[in-house]
Amino acid sequence: MASLSGEVGGIRMESPVMLAAGILGTTGASLRRAALAGAGAVVTKSVGVAPREGHRGPTVVQVEGGLLNAMGLPNPSYRNFQEEIDIGRGGGAPVVASIFGAGAEEFVEVATGLDADGFELNLSCPHAERLGAEIGCEACNVEAITRAVKEEVNVPVWVKLTPNVADVVGLGLAAERGGADGVVAINTLRAMAIDVESGMPILGNRFGGLSGPAIKPVAVRCVYDLASALEIPVIGVGGIASWEDAAEMMMAGARGVQVGTALGMVEGYGVFRSIAAGLSAYLDRKGIGMEELVGLARRAR
Ligand SMILES: Cc1cc2nc3c(=O)[nH]c(=O)nc-3n(C[C@H](O)[C@H](O)[C@H](O)COP(=O)(O)O)c2cc1C
Repeated sequence: MASLSGEVGGIRMESPVMLAAGILGTTGASLRRAALAGAGAVVTKSVGVAPREGHRGPTVVQVEGGLLNAMGLPNPSYRNFQEEIDIGRGGGAPVVASIFGAGAEEFVEVATGLDADGFELNLSCPHAERLGAEIGCEACNVEAITRAVKEEVNVPVWVKLTPNVADVVGLGLAAERGGADGVVAINTLRAMAIDVESGMPILGNRFGGLSGPAIKPVAVRCVYDLASALEIPVIGVGGIASWEDAAEMMMAGARGVQVGTALGMVEGYGVFRSIAAGLSAYLDRKGIGMEELVGLARRAR
């Protein structure tokens, strides 16, 4: 069987198929379970400086082609989160802490307050005021926050980008200038759903972020554009549910992939092993290795 192990964004992993931030990554037990189920790395739910309850419900609704969520970054604060990371590490895969803040100072406080195998800077949540995408859509913020965190930690730092901008490559280049070890693309697309009987927006927050199969083509395009312009590795996320989806994302240039919505909507934790097994069998059938798969569509004419 073709080997899938290697380094992704500065972190060694047995498989390039990871758990995405915010999906089942709230507790150490669920992180550990994803790792034991074959995830190459697991990313936690985003944590910040202070505890937050998040938005009022409903916070998640199923729509055509995926999920719409407006959780509002609920979290217990980094001060109460180290234990979850430690439990998650019991699964044997690297644990990447997803962190957010209102500016460089808060990002640094959270990053220096946690011991993790890497950090993923959430500069892309589409539905939290003055956080996430609201600061992450400006290249100067992305660069400054990345640089500030990089100066203070000695583990790899990934920057998760928002697709809700005209120029995602500009944000990726800013992360690269700031010293990021990789970029993660994409977070959810700003979206909403309305109940036609009441005429009311369904989500408590009115609008939220769309994830799942509907956003895969957008994610593939973002990854393709980013991988064409950046030197640092790109990690693809958005609508990946099968090995074919993962192969497509890698052909666009992703060095690794993350799986979110498919965990709930398709087959649960088994998705990590089934994607990895499918990828490995595909590489065998084609007689190529991972390094040839990554970026294949960019080399093809
Ligand atoms: C319920 C839910 C919660 C999420 N929470 C976070 C989060 O805390 N931090 C983050 O960076 N992304 C979060 N995301 C975004 C996912 O990590 C991912 O970028 C997005 O859902 C696209 O991937 P998918 O189509 O595989 O779900 C969340 C997504 C969902 C559906």
